[in-house]
Amino acid sequence: MEKILFAASEATPFIKTGGLADVVGSLPKCFDKEKYDVRVIIPKYLCIPQTKLENISFLTNFYVKLSWRSQYAGIFVTEVDGVTVYLVDNEYYFAGPRPYGNIYEDIEKFAFFSKAVLTALPAIDFRPDIIHCHDWQTGVIPVLLKESFRSNSFYQGIKSVMTIHNLKFQGRWELQKIKDVLGLPDYYFTSDKLEFYGDGDFLKGGIVFADAITTVSKTYAEEIKTLEYGEGLHDLLKSRSSSLRGIVNGIDYEEFNPLSDPYIYKQFDARSFRKEKPKNKRALQEEFGLERDDKAFLIGIVSRLTDQKGLDLIDQVMDDLCGMHVQIIVLGTGEEWYENMFRHYEWKYHGKVSANIYYSEEVSHKIYAGADAFLMPSLFEPCGLSQLISFRYGTLPIVRETGGLKDTVEPYNEFESTGTGFSFRNYNAGEMLNIVRYAMGVFENNKREWNKMIDRAMAADFSWKKSAISYEEMYDWMINKK
Ligand code: ADP
Ligand code: GLC
Repeated sequence: MEKILFAASEATPFIKTGGLADVVGSLPKCFDKEKYDVRVIIPKYLCIPQTKLENISFLTNFYVKLSWRSQYAGIFVTEVDGVTVYLVDNEYYFAGPRPYGNIYEDIEKFAFFSKAVLTALPAIDFRPDIIHCHDWQTGVIPVLLKESFRSNSFYQGIKSVMTIHNLKFQGRWELQKIKDVLGLPDYYFTSDKLEFYGDGDFLKGGIVFADAITTVSKTYAEEIKTLEYGEGLHDLLKSRSSSLRGIVNGIDYEEFNPLSDPYIYKQFDARSFRKEKPKNKRALQEEFGLERDDKAFLIGIVSRLTDQKGLDLIDQVMDDLCGMHVQIIVLGTGEEWYENMFRHYEWKYHGKVSANIYYSEEVSHKIYAGADAFLMPSLFEPCGLSQLISFRYGTLPIVRETGGLKDTVEPYNEFESTGTGFSFRNYNAGEMLNIVRYAMGVFENNKREWNKMIDRAMAADFSWKKSAISYEEMYDWMINKK
């Protein structure tokens, strides 16, 4: 039995701010249970709803040394869909209304978490063959594994994987502070290790010291080796390219299943969407203040409202879009500027635009089910899950050809009648507008072709099946390599 521990800062069903939580919450249960014992460890934030913690039990506690202080860590355990999940408790670090806050606090918070993860292993009696780390919050685990914990024979031979879900966030802060909280010697703070232009950098540590590096699509694995997408680490990633691979994300086909989804107005599948999906559209229009209009081209957006997601392109052409027979429904939170931008357009185009500036699983499912198209014009996109969820609900994605969007959305070809969505290449509002117009043309004038595209989108398989096997192959290779 190969033993794997996923260490991450969020996971469904406990806590989610974006796709990372979906991945950490759904991938572990998709491994072959005969061969892999995959467990998960996350922080026990005080903002995790109490209802999600009903079945957890206390396991053990210990102290973690951070700089000159010793900090309490409790370990709770539970099981979700057959997967063991550990939660690290510390009410000082994991307080607050959200998992993340100011970077200078987060640095210490996740240094604590990373040390607690490693310290916990003997206490919970689980010695993983591989610790699979996700994003900067766990980036120093591979470093600590090779340094502070190496002298203890328990840890010798444990390998690590660093998965990059988003290179934009690296956990950078004052070098001295990082040195203090990690308690690492100067040796680790040179430009070929954790130092980055005078600061310390958690993710860089992970990339340098992990035994293998992955990211969440093949295209993003290539992009991050370029100046344009490399966020300052492209040379390092190039130098580690023999250990770097792109494995595309999947989604949980049980959670996102239009045939059994309790949140949507009317369940449907690939056979019944022609009749039932329009009922979801009507109910969505009614509930969210849009004009009741079967013929309007209803575009959905469910997104963190940040620069990454290409929302400035939407801003530039919103008046053109609203001059067309289009409706737009947005669900998202994030930067205030974008939140207010959508609120403004709802006011300006009442009945055509619906801005829902909050977080809600339920509303997101209603949008995936009721919209005709899903717009995702990202500036960069490591993988993207929203377009995959859209496929599942027969909603055709309109995306920019970058990262995982490029790898998962096959552009419509009207001559060969192929494709599962629409895409444009350059980060340019005019190009985006043209492709939306083109998609709308197919929707309005060629319903047969549109529905055939839905057939293909709903038949596409983006469950975890294939990608879980790619991870298994990587684990096998790492463990068997001496
Ligand atoms: P990212 O991780 O960059 O935010 P992804 O497309 O990988 O982008 O994943 C985003 C996930 O978060 C999807 O499951 C999406 O439905 C969900 N999501 C984003 N914003 C909201 C929101 N306001 N309410 C509910 N779900 C949301
Ligand atoms: C990040 C990326 C997104 C990806 C998700 C899960 O949040 O922005 O593209 O799908 O992680 O890997």
